[in-house]
Amino acid sequence: AENQTAIAKERRELKRAQEQTELNAVPRNMSRAWLDPMADDRERTLAGDLRGITLPGREVPEWKKQAFGNNASFGYITDKSIQEQRESLPIYQLKTTLCEAFMQNQILVVVGETGSGKTTQMTQYLAEMGFTKRGIVGCTQPRRVAAVSVAKRVAEEVGCRVGQEVGYTIRFEDCTGPETAIKYMTDGMLMREMLMDGDLKRYSCIMLDEAHERNVSTDVLFALLKKLVQRRKDFRLIVTSATLDAEKFSQYFLDAKIFTIPGRTFPVDIMYAKEAENDYVDAALVTVMQIHLNEGEGDILLFLTGQEEIDTACEVLYQRMQRLGRSAPPLIILPAYGSLPSEMQSRIFEPAPRGSRKLIVATNIAEASITVDGIHYVVDPGMSKINAYNPKLGMDSLVVTPISQASARQRAGRAGRTGPGKCFRLYTELAYKTEMLPTNVPEIQRTNLGNVVLQLKSMGVNDLLSFDFMDPPPAQTLVAALEKLYALGALDEEGLLTKMGRKMAAFPLDPILSKTLISSVELGCAEEVVTIVAMLSVENIFFRPKEKQAQADQKKARFHQPEGDHLTMLAVYESWKRAGFSKAWCVDQFVQTRSIQRAQDIRQQLVGILGRYRMPIESCGRKFKAVQMAIASGFFMHAAKRDPTEGYRTLVEGQPVFIHPGSALFQRNPEVVIYHELVLTSKEYMRQVMVIDPKTLLEVAPNFYRSADPNKLTRRKKRERIEPLYDPRDEGNQLWRLSRRRG
Ligand code: CDP
Ligand code: MG
Repeated sequence: AENQTAIAKERRELKRAQEQTELNAVPRNMSRAWLDPMADDRERTLAGDLRGITLPGREVPEWKKQAFGNNASFGYITDKSIQEQRESLPIYQLKTTLCEAFMQNQILVVVGETGSGKTTQMTQYLAEMGFTKRGIVGCTQPRRVAAVSVAKRVAEEVGCRVGQEVGYTIRFEDCTGPETAIKYMTDGMLMREMLMDGDLKRYSCIMLDEAHERNVSTDVLFALLKKLVQRRKDFRLIVTSATLDAEKFSQYFLDAKIFTIPGRTFPVDIMYAKEAENDYVDAALVTVMQIHLNEGEGDILLFLTGQEEIDTACEVLYQRMQRLGRSAPPLIILPAYGSLPSEMQSRIFEPAPRGSRKLIVATNIAEASITVDGIHYVVDPGMSKINAYNPKLGMDSLVVTPISQASARQRAGRAGRTGPGKCFRLYTELAYKTEMLPTNVPEIQRTNLGNVVLQLKSMGVNDLLSFDFMDPPPAQTLVAALEKLYALGALDEEGLLTKMGRKMAAFPLDPILSKTLISSVELGCAEEVVTIVAMLSVENIFFRPKEKQAQADQKKARFHQPEGDHLTMLAVYESWKRAGFSKAWCVDQFVQTRSIQRAQDIRQQLVGILGRYRMPIESCGRKFKAVQMAIASGFFMHAAKRDPTEGYRTLVEGQPVFIHPGSALFQRNPEVVIYHELVLTSKEYMRQVMVIDPKTLLEVAPNFYRSADPNKLTRRKKRERIEPLYDPRDEGNQLWRLSRRRG
């Protein structure tokens, strides 16, 4: 019992700290995206990206100046009053019946075309009905961008400032206040709130918006809220979805009533490619130019997969337009992706000046989260970037994959909102019918669940195998997550959360990185490790232009440390710090200013969290053994041993791997190394490599490695003298049995 009280007390304290972390880390209204392992758009956007309007070492590109100008006007331009706009939405016709349905049903599934007014209007109707008197009306969004932009719009409609009656909360940015009655938030945030208050006592009603997106957090919320509805009879749950899954949602939610808002759409002609395109970006650009030069009035929406691709496409199109000069009507090229500052995003809603045409080049956010009126042409290459578990890396990575038929239809529908439209699919009809899946695979079935499992465990959900998932993740994925958490010391042999696990759950980081960071506090080297974790979280610190490769490599080599890349990155950062964080220094040292600034930003945020949890940030000076140990305590699963014949082999899977040529340890070939990640190019390369003493592995991961019994060793094992405690491929291993028994 004493132990129980201690745990409860600790949990309360952590929750308090967490609350402060989540909600007050950044002053209100300050834009701070976060390196967020569960981020909705997975773009890993950081405040640094907002500076990214300048490409490294270059001026603001012309297309961006044209797109946003220096003093572009932002905000909506329309000749209708806000009230008229609200009343012209399809949902308005059904307001009375909808409100009756809210009264009569504890759970309601609402289906309607995008743009019918679900997100912006339903919360206001609920407020008018008095729900806000009994608590907050919350509305979740799968994407940060949508949460922010919708809150702004609704605040405008309500006639208040964002953060007053209408507010939003996304990770590290809380824009709500004591008066807030309607609150938009990412589903990840609501999940974190449930961690603190499982009954959501502050809320009278939750609207799970865009449930068809099926984020991991949405799926977990499904189960948690379904239970909550049964516990709290005064609580209302509204689930909105694109038409497809409504039946399925209704069945899952105890045969909930389905309310349909009839759409108002125009026919869209679908055009297919005659044969498969091998370069979809290029094909897309050609198609856009053809539409612009040959087709009638109307704006164009082009779907691409990510920020870089979009920026490049915009640049190329801008140059093509420049070459055409005055012979072609003006084309206003506007990028749209999650990390774009919201003022810039609102530019995409502004109508194009008479005689010109608007082109929006967007990621998936334009599929359903953002609706732009006036689109007549959609160009759909049929690809999107999704987050998927990569078993080789042992972590998630972004991969460009074909979209589903449902997404393709949704994309096409964007062309028919204000009049008849055309959709150009850059794939064949056969591919659509035979190669695309009917609907998207829910994220929970394809990603690493380490983080979610950790969060559920800290909510007291121990029996994951019988947790009421709408579409359960494969048992193997769950078990893999449990095993990983067990090895990291976050779970005990019974599968219950440990003290370490509880601390780890408090960090919005991948469990491996939170473990590294927490260990560094204990080892007295958080000052160094927090820098390294930040540097590891950004891509491409070094700049290696084609014409000056040798020179760039030479500069980089001066930072090389015998321990490897982690300490090399520390040296780079320290050196930049001594140079007063100067930009000129970066240019001179071939360091990407934007990347290192981003690292600085992450670092600052991590320092803030550590401080709030009263974890001391001490320096170990030059005693880098502690740093190596901290990193090993998180990354011990990513260890590899030199192979007598060639390269290395990973300790766990025995997979052949090689040190990346860009590494500080290239051609030095130490006996045992730890890597940050594997990248497959011509070979399977380890990137960010560090020397490690095998004894350290035994010390930091006694749950995972044991020193091999010298009497029982095969000759090969004798050379290695260390072996994983269990084989992760062996289904009959201990933890699996334990967790199943508990389940
Ligand atoms: O949720 P649903 O897709 O049904 O519609 P909504 O997001 O409530 O949007 C209804 C209308 O509000 C849109 O057609 C836009 O005209 C407007 N809106 C806006 O102006 N700015 C936003 N950020 C969101 C919506
Ligand atoms: Mg909506």
